[in-house]
Amino acid sequence: MTEALAHTDTTVRVRVPAKINLHLGIGPLREDGYHDLTTVFESISLYDELTATPADTITLTIEGEGQDTLPTDRRNLAHLAAAELAAYTGTRTGAHLHLKKRIPIAGGLAGGSADAAAALIACNTLWNTGLTPAELDKLAAALGSDVPFCLHGGTALGTGRGEQLHPVLSTGTRHWVIATAHGELATPAVYREVDRLRENGHGTYHDNVDALLAAIRNSDPDTVAKALHNDMQQAATTLMPSLADTLQAGLDEGALTALVSGSGPSCLFLARDERHAGSLAKRLTLRRVAREIHTAESPVPGATLTEA
Ligand code: C5P
Repeated sequence: MTEALAHTDTTVRVRVPAKINLHLGIGPLREDGYHDLTTVFESISLYDELTATPADTITLTIEGEGQDTLPTDRRNLAHLAAAELAAYTGTRTGAHLHLKKRIPIAGGLAGGSADAAAALIACNTLWNTGLTPAELDKLAAALGSDVPFCLHGGTALGTGRGEQLHPVLSTGTRHWVIATAHGELATPAVYREVDRLRENGHGTYHDNVDALLAAIRNSDPDTVAKALHNDMQQAATTLMPSLADTLQAGLDEGALTALVSGSGPSCLFLARDERHAGSLAKRLTLRRVAREIHTAESPVPGATLTEA
């Protein structure tokens, strides 16, 4: 999670990656309003960067993705994460957090959860609060189902509501094109659509990840492509029908496979190698299938302190 304490006296900088789900199996709705998941998370090399400097209170500024629309108070998970850490540890000083956002917002890439993970690592270092990884995990899980994975990164099996992580063996590097559509999909709305489709006898529920875990152990991209799965895909494309065209465009242009990322609307295209990802991204950019197109590789480590 945290390696060397790479910070100056006054500034702490953390780099945190987006996440994708190589498998997202959604169980029935639980009594607490969540769904039991069987998911395989993986971090990809698309990063937000958060710096924390000492201040009297907790404040947040944002540049890049969502700078004109995202809240900067406790409604923002990064701000809330710092506040919860301060409350848990009895810290009386504050921090000014500055976020450079590249991860598309409300895109199915866990950008908000990533920022919360970054804030936990940054403030735990800035304030010298010295929480153990287990304590940080507990705070992270209370902030959101994806936040514990964003702390750890790499590749992991997630169960429960996604907050219970189990290590998995992964070899090699995967190369992706990520196309994020115009518009946003709110995660709770996509979960509700999954439930609605199921009540009407539609939708999938795949909780078997054996084929995927075998595929990522030996890293052959064609085998991995066949094993990727997202139970949310039908719900996301029902709410945003244009996603089906985006997915098809990627397949037409030679992607090994195409799937919706998490609750969408980002779409993932698996490429054979880095060069293939670059040419696929160029062709998809020319076809104007999305608001933003990135190339990225996976897996990468989670929230990490970097040189200030
Ligand atoms: O945990 P998080 O705050 O990210 O979840 C946001 C919303 O997504 C929840 O309030 C719930 O509606 C839905 N959710 C779910 N099952 C999960 C994770 C999230 O239904 N496993």
